[in-house]
Amino acid sequence: MDLGAGLGKAMMLAAGYPWARLVGVELDENLIWGLKRNLAKFAARVGKMPDWDVVATDARTYRFPERPLMVFLFNPFCGEVLAEVIANLVQRIETSTEPVWVLYVNPVEAAFPEMWFESVDGRCGGPFSGQVGWQLYRGHRGASHSPALDNRP
Ligand SMILES: C[S@@+](CC[C@H](N)C(=O)[O-])C[C@H]1O[C@@H](n2cnc3c(N)ncnc32)[C@H](O)[C@@H]1O
Repeated sequence: MDLGAGLGKAMMLAAGYPWARLVGVELDENLIWGLKRNLAKFAARVGKMPDWDVVATDARTYRFPERPLMVFLFNPFCGEVLAEVIANLVQRIETSTEPVWVLYVNPVEAAFPEMWFESVDGRCGGPFSGQVGWQLYRGHRGASHSPALDNRP
């Protein structure tokens, strides 16, 4: 799932891998038109329609589907918007047993709270390394749902 799908580059790259389904969430109406056109052209070129969908909505209020999620973020939001998207993801983590993973590429904002997002892998990037950094998180329920705490006497 690409939050802030832009013109669909990441979705088209992901179509080469065995994901169950690809979803692009995009807010900008002008980009959505180009995104759909790019996906249709891509499908025509490769000769098959991948199982993908474009959702024209705001990632801050998007209702995530009830299935395992790999959420891709190519540094699409910052500041308050990112905080609200994270709050939306936390809501999903807290209300579902389906797993959530987040791949945050070019992670300029270190805003994913440890209470819900365990950092499992990553690479530093930056102008001097010539590489784009990324951070992989696994979502987990917050402390209030910890089995250890639930079993307190
Ligand atoms: C850097 S581009 C992402 C490009 C795309 N993910 C890729 O890798 O090819 C960021 C995108 O996020 C979108 N965006 C910004 N705020 C958004 C929001 N609140 N909800 C959904 N999309 C948003 C922008 O319109 C823009 O297309």
